[in-house]
Amino acid sequence: MNINAWAIAAVATAGLAQPLLAQDQSDAGIAAYRAALQDGNPAELWEMRGEVLWKTKRGTKNASLETCDLGKGPGKLEGAYAELPRYFADARKVMDLEARLVYCMETLQGWDTKPYFNKGAFKSKGPGSDMAAIATFVAAKSNGMAFKVDTSHPAVNAAVKTGEDLFWRRSGPFDFSCATCHAEDGKRIRLQGLPNLLKTEGAATGVATWPAYRVSQSEVRTLQHRMWDCYWQMRHPDVQYTSDAVTALLTYMNAIGNGNEIKSPYIKR
Ligand code: HEC
Repeated sequence: MNINAWAIAAVATAGLAQPLLAQDQSDAGIAAYRAALQDGNPAELWEMRGEVLWKTKRGTKNASLETCDLGKGPGKLEGAYAELPRYFADARKVMDLEARLVYCMETLQGWDTKPYFNKGAFKSKGPGSDMAAIATFVAAKSNGMAFKVDTSHPAVNAAVKTGEDLFWRRSGPFDFSCATCHAEDGKRIRLQGLPNLLKTEGAATGVATWPAYRVSQSEVRTLQHRMWDCYWQMRHPDVQYTSDAVTALLTYMNAIGNGNEIKSPYIKR
């Protein structure tokens, strides 16, 4: 997209945001908004920034992420996201995209990532936004492909089971589980539709469409962020960025969504 088109997209964003946010629950409004931004999902800016971050030498080892192995060999990005989460023998565990990126930051680049992410893995700007940028860059390389998470691997299968337990486990001050909000068709909070994540179609809209540009937040968000946000809605303490528990939940949902077309980066309310 050329600079002019970006400028037009930016103007379109500024002009449309107000009226649409006022009636943001209207599916038609969102469809119109998406159509207006069809050629210019702002997430493309994150994608470009992600590519730069991927190639930039950083960390105590002053290395780039270019040799990071996301499951298909060092630096092989095409279709890698479509097979995540997966089991990684070197780390001896199942990892989703972001957990694997953190692993590569630690091993290849020599980052002490804990204090880094404590600065704000879930905030706009800073570490969270940089991770979203890299995740967007990687996920876009699987755009249009079908999810094919290998659940036959025993460790992946175990993660699916753990994820299922977590999905149904009621807890927190409201005694909610994920299933309270996401296990039936046609549920809504206020006017917001909630996908039934137990169905392939629900997982298609709810899981296969991340990372996504959030119009209401002017930021690209990832599935790790989405899990943090939903746990917050359940009034849990902050979940840890790329924890095994969240990876298990994502593995469970991705297994349900296997075969769904990846639409990433997407644009959402
Ligand atoms: C109190 C109800 C509630 C609970 C409990 C809840 N969520 Fe959500 N969830 C929502 C809402 C509301 C949204 C949409 C948020 C938005 O549009 O800002 C959402 C969005 C999502 C999405 C993205 C859907 C999409 O269309 O993009 C996923 C995936 C998801 N939740 C998974 C979970 C998981 C996993 C849990 C349990 C850890 C959970 N949710 C618990 C209310 C809930």
